[in-house]
Amino acid sequence: MGVRSLAYIRVESRDLEAWRRFGEQVVGAAVAPGSDDDVLLLRLDGRPWRFRIEKGDQDRYLCAGLECPSEAEWQQAIDRLRGAGVAVAEGDTEGARLRHVRGYVTLDDPAGNMIELVWGNIVAGTPFVSPVGVPAFITGEMGFGHVVLPTTCYDATRSFYKDLLGFGDSDEMRVHFPGGPEQGLGMSFMHAAGPRHHTVAVGEFPAPTGLIHTMVEVPTIDDVGMALDRAVAAGVHISSSLGRHTNDKMISFYMRSPTGFDIEFGCGGEQTDDWTKVTPTFTIKEDLWGHKWDFGG
Ligand SMILES: [Fe+2]
Repeated sequence: MGVRSLAYIRVESRDLEAWRRFGEQVVGAAVAPGSDDDVLLLRLDGRPWRFRIEKGDQDRYLCAGLECPSEAEWQQAIDRLRGAGVAVAEGDTEGARLRHVRGYVTLDDPAGNMIELVWGNIVAGTPFVSPVGVPAFITGEMGFGHVVLPTTCYDATRSFYKDLLGFGDSDEMRVHFPGGPEQGLGMSFMHAAGPRHHTVAVGEFPAPTGLIHTMVEVPTIDDVGMALDRAVAAGVHISSSLGRHTNDKMISFYMRSPTGFDIEFGCGGEQTDDWTKVTPTFTIKEDLWGHKWDFGG
């Protein structure tokens, strides 16, 4: 056991106003108290925030907050990391207050992706109300969604999440393209202790902004379709058309965030209540339908 879910992501942005418009009017997130000229906090549910957009000189993804279900499991994960020689920086009281958690530490995975390992969340105390009428985001025990991180050391990065943070294999995909390596490029989908199909995936793909994509989930296909309408109306680049994945069965589209990484917006993601009954597969086929990619724009 180890990580249960994705708690939040932090992003550095030169343009908080673009993120505010995108977050509220396209995603349907709510701007949270505590936002100011330097920080934009976006809520998706009863947590105080799920996206922390920080004003800076660059447009880049900063880190994922990965949540452990208890202090004991959090401490065990830290002990495993330190035992393996990973540098783990202690969080301080002010940092914990900003994150609305009881404790956190900061570290890098073998590919250099920053992670914050947290436990003990504090709820906002006020209900989430979407400014554009999204009825809810599917979060709770499953966290707010998933992140797909880049890596140039695929095997070491997979081992790190599995052996040190307690993730398990859900499945793996090999992506083949003309002129690419014969074995294709790997994309590994890993589940945390919760029911979501994958909370972290790592891919052998470059990601100039530091993140390949992050995913949010809504209850119905109508909620996805209405988000697609909002994105098109706002002139947001649609990176992938609507489609259904073969592995987690999610029906989704992908759109480009103001920082440049994609946000997958979907519904119907498969859930599993007992991972011991699931045999990982390593031969994912192409999507069931749709998901036609447009890397331009
Ligand atoms: Fe995804």
